[in-house]
Amino acid sequence: MKRNNTEFNKTNVGEIVTLYGWVSKKRDLGGLVFIDLRDRSGIIQLAIRPECAVYNKVLEIKNEYVIKVVGEITLRENSNPNLKTGDIEVIVSDVEVLNESRELPFDLNKVTALEDTRLKYRYLDLRRNELKDKLIMKSLIMQSARDYLNNNEFLEIETPILCKSTPEGARDYLVPSRVNKGSFYALPQSPQLFKQLLMASGFEKYYQIARCFRDEDLRADRQPEFTQIDLEMSFVNEEDVMNLTEGLLANIFKKTKGINLNLPFNRMTYEDAFNMYGSDKPDTRFEMVINDITNAFVDTDFGVFRGVIDDGGMINAIVVKNAADRYSRKDIDKLTEVVKSYKASALAFLKYDNEFTGSIAKFVDEKTGDLLKEQLHLENNDLILIVAGNKKIVKTSLGALRLKLGKDLDLIDSSKFNFLWVTDFPMFEYSEEEGRYIACHHPFTHPMDVDNLDDKENALARAYDIVLNGYEIGGGSIRIHKPDVQEKVLEALEFTKEDAYNKFGFLLDALTYGTPPHGGLALGLERLTMILSGTDNIRDVIAFPKTTSASCLMTEAPNEVSIHQLDELHIKLK
Ligand code: AMO
Repeated sequence: MKRNNTEFNKTNVGEIVTLYGWVSKKRDLGGLVFIDLRDRSGIIQLAIRPECAVYNKVLEIKNEYVIKVVGEITLRENSNPNLKTGDIEVIVSDVEVLNESRELPFDLNKVTALEDTRLKYRYLDLRRNELKDKLIMKSLIMQSARDYLNNNEFLEIETPILCKSTPEGARDYLVPSRVNKGSFYALPQSPQLFKQLLMASGFEKYYQIARCFRDEDLRADRQPEFTQIDLEMSFVNEEDVMNLTEGLLANIFKKTKGINLNLPFNRMTYEDAFNMYGSDKPDTRFEMVINDITNAFVDTDFGVFRGVIDDGGMINAIVVKNAADRYSRKDIDKLTEVVKSYKASALAFLKYDNEFTGSIAKFVDEKTGDLLKEQLHLENNDLILIVAGNKKIVKTSLGALRLKLGKDLDLIDSSKFNFLWVTDFPMFEYSEEEGRYIACHHPFTHPMDVDNLDDKENALARAYDIVLNGYEIGGGSIRIHKPDVQEKVLEALEFTKEDAYNKFGFLLDALTYGTPPHGGLALGLERLTMILSGTDNIRDVIAFPKTTSASCLMTEAPNEVSIHQLDELHIKLK
């Protein structure tokens, strides 16, 4: 059996070993030749001296050849602290070329090639240990999740990939049925309904490392196909699901990073998160919370603020500590672009240094100034950035600005893992696109108060998200298990009875046959892997990812198919 390159160290000096791997780099020092031999585990240095019997053969070897070598482990003259095997090298006595390689389309030792080229030759790019390590991390996370859930009496059960298209959520990927002319399957956006039905069947504790498919706009943390660590439990409340999830994450962090997490995680209501951070997934690794300073301006003559207050809007601010002298007008113009992209009309600013200066300083009278100093705990050289308008715009724009400043000013301690439960989500949200209220989580989420569904703006759901360092890494809820409650919620979402039965009558029926109370959650495996492997690009943690236009540059999917295939599927292209 092949042994790993990085198994060897000083204690193996004198041993004759056989190694296999790829030639990562060859350096010919005009006599002595060095090869960095790469395998999955890492690099080990080979040295080939002129007196070596296979010296001439080695001269023919090029980068990325696959070789087998025999040699003796010796101490290196100059050790390399950046390599696990940096204290040793292998003095080669024999070499066999197992396969040659053409020159690669890009140099694996430099990451200067365009991402498109690297995605086209993804199987080559994946040879880089830096990328490989991220997929090894993903594999470890899956292993430790399985271990934990198996030890806690969960059953791993698969659910279908060819499903029924149900409304709500993102757009479905559809698959035409050949046998059922004119009908389509949908790929699952998540196993949500199936896992609930498994509870109706009495499995009590289910999990699955589930592939999910969503035809939505892609972002740095979103792919059209991704994976969830999906779980569901019967006879539970919020506390049970949250405790279980904390245990699961603690196990994952211990196994993958050797980190002991502090349990329980902090919690914050959705309302507080939105008010203080302008987001339902706040990055709590740094402060700079959003303050409502409407009160300080209630009597203002400043027309813009006056108008906003009279229209029922608000004035909010974030304070950048000890930074006023670092921000010129031009810098503030750049920050204004950020808030404008969130529909804010402008960004006002004040600088405090015993007195106020800045764009709205002339509207800060003594009383307003005192209120600001007190509420914002102002100290000299503080910069105050202010947005006025309706709540949603004010909060989201300042939330985004806060994140930008956190990054720009290096306020984020990247060694921290800040977990946060966000609870008490709204039950409904208004969709401008659809002109009606839709479910904030999904229509099967239990309302906090079953009798208060008419007040759509304020109705709350028994839903919770788990946030890590500003990423939503998971979400779940306690589900509706009684048919009358489910009907009420569907009614509130403006489904007719007929419509609801057409779309998910199977679930509504199941609720009438003794479905137990149940709830669960799903963790986004890729997002967790991104954070644990220190990347902010989701493509890094997927072996064969899609581009932002949802295509695979390596296989060239999606592609056109033959007329014959379309005919069989009863499909005519427009
Ligand atoms: P939700 O839609 O919140 O919940 O998804 C759960 C978690 O999956 C991850 N995620 C994604 N990751 C990568 N690319 C995407 N396009 C993507 N979309 C979601 C996120 C998210 O928190 N069935 C419910 C869960 C439940 O209620 O039990 C669900 O799917 O990390």
